[in-house]
Amino acid sequence: MQNTYLPPAAFSASAAIPDMAAYEALCAHAERDYQGYWGKLARENLAWHVPFTRVLDESEAPFYRWFDDGKLNVSYNCLDRNLHNGNAGKTAIIFEADGGAVTRVTYRELHERVCRLANGLRSRGIGKGDRVVIYMAMSIEGVAAMLACARIGATHSVVFGGFSAKALQERIIDAGAVAVITADEQQRGGKRLPLKAIVDEALALGGCASVKDVIIYRRTGGGVTHVSDRDIWLHDLMEGQPAECEPEWVGAEHPLFILYTSGSTGTPKGVQHSSGGYLLWAALTMKWSFDIKPDDVYWCTADIGWVTGHSYIAYGPTAVGATQVIFEGVPTYPDAGRFWETIEKHRVSIFYTAPTAIRSLIKAAELDPTVHPKNYDLSSLRLLGSVGEPINPEAWLWYYRHVGGERCPVVDTFWQTETGGHMITPLPGATPMVPGSCTLPLPGIMAAIVDEAGQDVPNGQGGILVVKRPWPSMIRNIWNNPKRYQSSYFPEELGGTLYLAGDGAIRSKDTGYFTITGRIDDVLNVSGHRMGTMEIESALVANPLVAEAAVVGKPDETTGESICAFVVLKQARPTGDEARKLALELRNWVAKEIGPIAKPKEIRFGDNLPKTRSGKIMRRLLRVLAKGESISQDVSTLENPAILEQLAKAV
Ligand code: PRX
Repeated sequence: MQNTYLPPAAFSASAAIPDMAAYEALCAHAERDYQGYWGKLARENLAWHVPFTRVLDESEAPFYRWFDDGKLNVSYNCLDRNLHNGNAGKTAIIFEADGGAVTRVTYRELHERVCRLANGLRSRGIGKGDRVVIYMAMSIEGVAAMLACARIGATHSVVFGGFSAKALQERIIDAGAVAVITADEQQRGGKRLPLKAIVDEALALGGCASVKDVIIYRRTGGGVTHVSDRDIWLHDLMEGQPAECEPEWVGAEHPLFILYTSGSTGTPKGVQHSSGGYLLWAALTMKWSFDIKPDDVYWCTADIGWVTGHSYIAYGPTAVGATQVIFEGVPTYPDAGRFWETIEKHRVSIFYTAPTAIRSLIKAAELDPTVHPKNYDLSSLRLLGSVGEPINPEAWLWYYRHVGGERCPVVDTFWQTETGGHMITPLPGATPMVPGSCTLPLPGIMAAIVDEAGQDVPNGQGGILVVKRPWPSMIRNIWNNPKRYQSSYFPEELGGTLYLAGDGAIRSKDTGYFTITGRIDDVLNVSGHRMGTMEIESALVANPLVAEAAVVGKPDETTGESICAFVVLKQARPTGDEARKLALELRNWVAKEIGPIAKPKEIRFGDNLPKTRSGKIMRRLLRVLAKGESISQDVSTLENPAILEQLAKAV
C-alpha cells in the first residue's frame, strides 16, 4: 500500500511487541477472556499490597470498578519499587530549566523528597480523601507534589499554570480543596510570571474557605506576600521531616486525581481517575506504545497541568523506572532550535510532543535555516510520538524525516483526559504506519465506529467513535456529578453502554485503520488545548458590554484550530478603531476570566447572530463565515439573513 511506513527492522528486533502476530495474539486473548487478560496484566505490572481477587465489577455500570478489593499505593509503585529493583541510583529526572540550567535527581533522591513532602503534608493534617490543588509550572517539585499526594492518599487536582485566578477559584471550590501547592513564580521564555499572587487572588474571590494551607515552592525568589498561618514555604514544610514515609495503602478504586477538562456545557468537568486501573495503563503503555527500555532517555514536552503530564510524566515513566527530561521552558526560547538542542544535550531517545509544536518549528526552520533539526545531532533518537490533536501528513513526514532521520517509528497516540492513557496508536515495533492515521486500538481496547443509533458502520464510512467495553484506566466519574458522567459518556441514544469519546472517526476499507476526524461536540482543540465553546461564550457574556456571543473554531495552519467569537454588544455595533479597541478589550477579558489560552484570535461584531425562527444560533453558518468563505448552504430557516453580511467582515 502507498504511504505506508514499516517499523524499522532493527527496532522490531528488540521491541516489546515485535510484530502484528504478537499484537493479534494479545487482542485475541482479550476477546477470549477479558477479565483473565486484564487480571494477568495487573498482576504482572503493578505491586499490590493486598492482591485483588475481582477483576471487573460491572454491577453498577457505567460506574465500573476494577481490581477493587486489591490495595496498593501509586507512589510506592513509582518510587519504592525502583529502590528495590536496582534503580535507586538511576537518574529519574533531568530537569532542564528555562535558562538551560540542569538539575538531576535519582530515584533515591526523588523518593526522599516525596517522603519528606508527604510527611510535611501529614503534619498539616492532610490525609486520605482530602483534595489538594496543585498550581505549579514544570518542575521536579511539581511531580514530587503529585507523588506526595498519592503517597498519603490525598486526591490531587493539578490546575494548569496558564489558567486565571477565576478559573483556579472555580476548580478549588468544585474540588473542595483543603490545600493549594504553588510556586512563587514561573519562568517561561526568559520572563517571570506570577503563580502565588494568582492563588491569593483566587482565594480572595471568595468561596474557598476549605483551603487551610498554601504551600509555596521558591522557584524564582520573586515577590510573595505571606498570609500568616495559611502560607508556608515548601522547604520549611519539608525541613526536619523524616526521609521515610509509610504509604497510605488505598483500594484500587481510590481517586488518585481529578483533572478538569472542557465539555460541551459552560462549566469544566472534574474527570476523576482511579489508582490501580489508571496506573496499570500508564505503566503498560510506556512499555507498549513507547517500547521503553532501561537505557532510554525519555522526554515528553507536555505540562503537568494536562493529562499527558499526568500519565506520561508523573506516573507512567516513574512506574517503569525510566530516566526522563522535564522541561520548563518554551520551544522557541532562546530560539526555535531549543527542542533539538535539548535532545542533543541529553541524548534523548524517545521524544513525545504535539503536532502544534512540530508545525510551528517547521515554520521557524523555513524562516531561519539555522534552527532546522539538521543542524543538531539527533542520532540518539529511536522513537517519536505525537499527541493531543490530529497530525497532518505533511507534519508527520517532516517529523519522520527531519527529526527521526527516517529510522524512528512515529506513534500518533489518540487518547483523552477521560481515557487515562493511549487508546489508538501504532505499536512502534509492529504496526505499519500511515501518516495522519492513529492506526489500531491497543490490545484490550474495544474501539469502534457507530452511527447515531449506536449501530456499527462499515469501514470506509465515517461515524462516531465509541469504546464498547470498559477498560482499567477509564474515567470513573465526574467529580460531584455522576449524572453528568452518565449522560456525557454513556448517552441513552447510543444504548447507554457505549463510551462516547466525542470524536468523529473513519476506518480505512483496506486496513481497518482509524483516522480521527475531529470533535463532534462543541469542544475546540487549539494548540492541543481542549476548550469548550460554551465556556468562552459564558466568559464573554459575563462582560457588562456584551449582550450575546457565539464562539466557533476556525481551521488554523499552526494551532490546528483557532477561536473566532461573534459578539453582539448592548451598545450599537462598533466599527473601525472603536471595534478594534473593543475587540482587544474583550480578548483580554477572556484571558482574565479563563486564561490566555482561551483568548479568541478573532472577534467580530454584529447587530445580531444568525438564528433559526425558534431562536437557535446557527453555528454551522458561523463556521463558514469564520473561514472567510461565502455561504452556499440553505439559509431558508434563518430568521435574519441580512446579519450574515455584517458578520462576514473582520474587524
Ligand atoms: O479530539 C481528540 C484530540 O484531543 C481530544 C482530547 O483532548 P484532551 O482530553 O485534552 O487530551 C489531550 C491529550 C491526550 C480528543 O478527543 N486528540 C488527542 N490525541 C489525538 C487527537 N486527535 C487526533 N489524533 C490524536 N492523536
